[in-house]
Amino acid sequence: MNRFRFHAYTDIRFGEGQLEALPELLAPYGKKILLVYGGSSIQKNGLYEQVLKLLSGFSLYELSGVEPNPKITSVREGVKLCKEHDIDAVLAVGGGSVIDAAKVIAGGAAYEGDPWDLVTNPEKIGNVLPIVTVLTLAATGSEMNKNAVISNRETNEKLGTSSHDFIPKASICDPSYLYTLPSVQTAAGTADIMSHLFEQYFQKENRAFISDRFAEGLLKACIKYCPIALEEPANYEARANLMWASTQALNGLTACGKGGAWTCHPIEHELSAYYDITHGVGLAIVTPRWFRYILNDDTVGKFCEYARNVWSITEPDAYRCANMAIDATEEFFLECGIPMTLTELGIDDSKFEIMAKKAVRFGGLSEAYVPLTEKDVVNILRMCL
Ligand code: NZQ
Ligand code: ZN
Repeated sequence: MNRFRFHAYTDIRFGEGQLEALPELLAPYGKKILLVYGGSSIQKNGLYEQVLKLLSGFSLYELSGVEPNPKITSVREGVKLCKEHDIDAVLAVGGGSVIDAAKVIAGGAAYEGDPWDLVTNPEKIGNVLPIVTVLTLAATGSEMNKNAVISNRETNEKLGTSSHDFIPKASICDPSYLYTLPSVQTAAGTADIMSHLFEQYFQKENRAFISDRFAEGLLKACIKYCPIALEEPANYEARANLMWASTQALNGLTACGKGGAWTCHPIEHELSAYYDITHGVGLAIVTPRWFRYILNDDTVGKFCEYARNVWSITEPDAYRCANMAIDATEEFFLECGIPMTLTELGIDDSKFEIMAKKAVRFGGLSEAYVPLTEKDVVNILRMCL
């Protein structure tokens, strides 16, 4: 097991009605709050009104319209508001995109230059305003982690940045806010949770027994509850388990003692950078192809472990067992209604070479579980057509 730091300090308020705690959670930081949100989802489901009512004793400033795959242009607007109004804390109400934008806004408030610098050079992140979140989509784990992913349409870049100070001070996770999610977001969010687990589970370091058993339990929760949430959007038990799986899958817990570069995320980030596709959909398409591409004598044992412990597959032949688990993963995404080819998303092979080059460079794919070259990435992308 590798050395690790696990420092969890987000105050998670989980369950129905926890929004009531919002004034108490923001109060220690001051009165001037920048409320960051996306399109109209929080207005349609009434959350916006509730937040305004609860925060009537605060001075609220608003940044609306943060896009899925949040753009640096929105971050710049948010930073401007923070500077103009001397904001005390940033409140994100939404999914991962809104929370990620809020993080870089909170970092940009005390930074003199262009906030894009904080994405390309995380070491430039200095003072960060306190961040509180109200989560409305189970997927990224941003509600309890130090990461933010921001897109720049001018340069066709989608890059991750990170700071310990980006970890939210508090997050309200009320599973009933997930009831209004479109099916594709429920499914894509689940694929994202599962991908976070796969990226950490399939790594060279294989002695972190506890982390891998946690990951298997969370994967089983996704497989059990996503179909229920799709069938019955207001099933609290299903939503609650998916929401907690989202938080646990990327708060560092299942990475303790593991390590190494990720694979599907860098490849997906290029697809989103060029085609602005939904993150979880891209991951669902790439993952089974990556699995098939890297299945070999060195990796087959790990795939069998996944097959046995997650899918209860008992097939004695190792390669057959591994392939059955990969098939089950692909079928699961398909049954959740995710479009499972790039062709269905209108993506052809014209940008594969440039995307592969950037994925290898930004994602450090030479350090991945199975090291990949640009040619390997192009081959995987071709399998996705
Ligand atoms: O904008 P609104 O109107 O709110 O609609 C959103 C958006 O259209 C909608 N939505 C959210 N909650 C809803 C809802 N609609 C109805 N009811 C609700 N309760 O869903 C759409 C997608 O939202 P978004 O925030 O983009 O989704 P997600 O949470 O999947 O976030 C994706 C972004 O996070 C990044 C991704 O790359 C992508 O940019 N990631 C962030 C990570 C992190 N911070 O650790 C790690 C991930 O691997 C990922 O890269
Ligand atoms: Zn992800």
